[in-house]
Amino acid sequence: MANDASAVSDALPPHVSPADPFTPPADSALWRRDFLLGAATAAYQIEGAVDEDGRLPSIWDTFSALPGKVLAGDTGAVACDHYHRWEQDVDMLAGLGLEGYRLSIAWPRVMDEAGSPNRKGLDFYRRLLTRLKEKGIATFVTLYHWDLPQHLEARGGWLNRETAYRFADYAGLVSRELSGLVDAWATLNEPWCSAYLGYGNGHHAPGLADGRYATQAMHHLLLAHGLAMPVLRTNDPASRKGIVANIGRGTANSDSAADRRAAHLFEVQHNAWILDPLLKGAYPQDLWELWPGTEPLVLEGDMQTIAAPLDFLGINYYFRTQVESDGAHGFREVLLEGVERTQMGWEVFPDGLRDLLIGFRHTYANLPPVYITENGMASDDKVIDGRVDDTQRIAFLKRHLAAVDQAIKAGVDIRGYFLWSLMDNFEWAFGYERRFGIVHVDYSTQQRTIKRSAELVAKFLEERRTKETT
Ligand code: FCB
Repeated sequence: MANDASAVSDALPPHVSPADPFTPPADSALWRRDFLLGAATAAYQIEGAVDEDGRLPSIWDTFSALPGKVLAGDTGAVACDHYHRWEQDVDMLAGLGLEGYRLSIAWPRVMDEAGSPNRKGLDFYRRLLTRLKEKGIATFVTLYHWDLPQHLEARGGWLNRETAYRFADYAGLVSRELSGLVDAWATLNEPWCSAYLGYGNGHHAPGLADGRYATQAMHHLLLAHGLAMPVLRTNDPASRKGIVANIGRGTANSDSAADRRAAHLFEVQHNAWILDPLLKGAYPQDLWELWPGTEPLVLEGDMQTIAAPLDFLGINYYFRTQVESDGAHGFREVLLEGVERTQMGWEVFPDGLRDLLIGFRHTYANLPPVYITENGMASDDKVIDGRVDDTQRIAFLKRHLAAVDQAIKAGVDIRGYFLWSLMDNFEWAFGYERRFGIVHVDYSTQQRTIKRSAELVAKFLEERRTKETT
């Protein structure tokens, strides 16, 4: 491992200190110049300006306005005011030397109720993407990061099959308009969260809670993805196309067959529910054991549409969950004591990322190239004397990047990693309290302060560039 400092120092350029708490070991794949290192955000979490330039309301405007749905009653109405400060934010990204930026487009900003383009909204993204290109930053654009236009929710949202076809229209419009400015399109961000948190337990917009709704919403989300893929290919042939899934590690609380089955079912619910239809063209049968009677209505041809080949798979990983059998057909969480946790209460468990990635390589023969499209942690960061010393995040990032490196060495084709997030932002049901950024945001002044983690990532990227040219 990396603790043999003398061995490492020989291989590093002279100005790199092996004692740096972030620098990866010399044999890490992270040093490869073609391993993309970037940061991610999403429209509703940073843009603000929710009723400017013809933007329509989204389900998150509606949901966050309901009492009790979001911590402290926060909403995305202003967020990081990125809609007005985007130039400064792009300069900040470039100043940090980040090589990729994953952002999302707000559907309600670019398309009106009749399906016609909203020019002002499209122009915003055109300017933003053009500037990123000028700065040499690779653009990863997510079409749907949870902000469904409210007028579609009024017609049933993702419970209505029609929404999948409206999504394909939206993908068509945006990919026609922005063709050539995008390196990689992702159709959906984390359909699991949209389906389960939005329709299954109601913790997210639109706030419905019914198991049957969750599986039907998932089916329509995946159908939307599948319908959009050929449209994206026609309109923007040079870009890569894929989807972003959140994945969860479930580990058994004991060696008993029942607990091991519980851990398996946890991962079926979190991972196979999405990855099997995408990569095998079928829902995992175990899901119906876990949630009897919730099979969605699937029409002929849907599964082929959903399983359209992907150019890449985006993976978002945050934590693991220890589970045991619930004594019936399911699992329940066991809260481990004495483990390191983040401000979210999530356990820091980098091995979970490595093990899942290696497992997918064996389960899915057609696993496409992978990008880690989100990984990061929240901490209660404070600016002290103009600095933010986010020590826990630095160690977190280093350890998770080491896990990625191990997965690469075990044969998984991983092409890049995006930190969640470029800056502190609206963390959905947790509002502004949870800070995931590598840049701190003071919401009363909109002042951005580079945290220590961002400085170290920037320093590493600089060193990597220097190393390449020497
Ligand atoms: C993911 C979301 C992202 C962010 C992180 C912490 O589930 O995709 O928007 O909220 O969690």
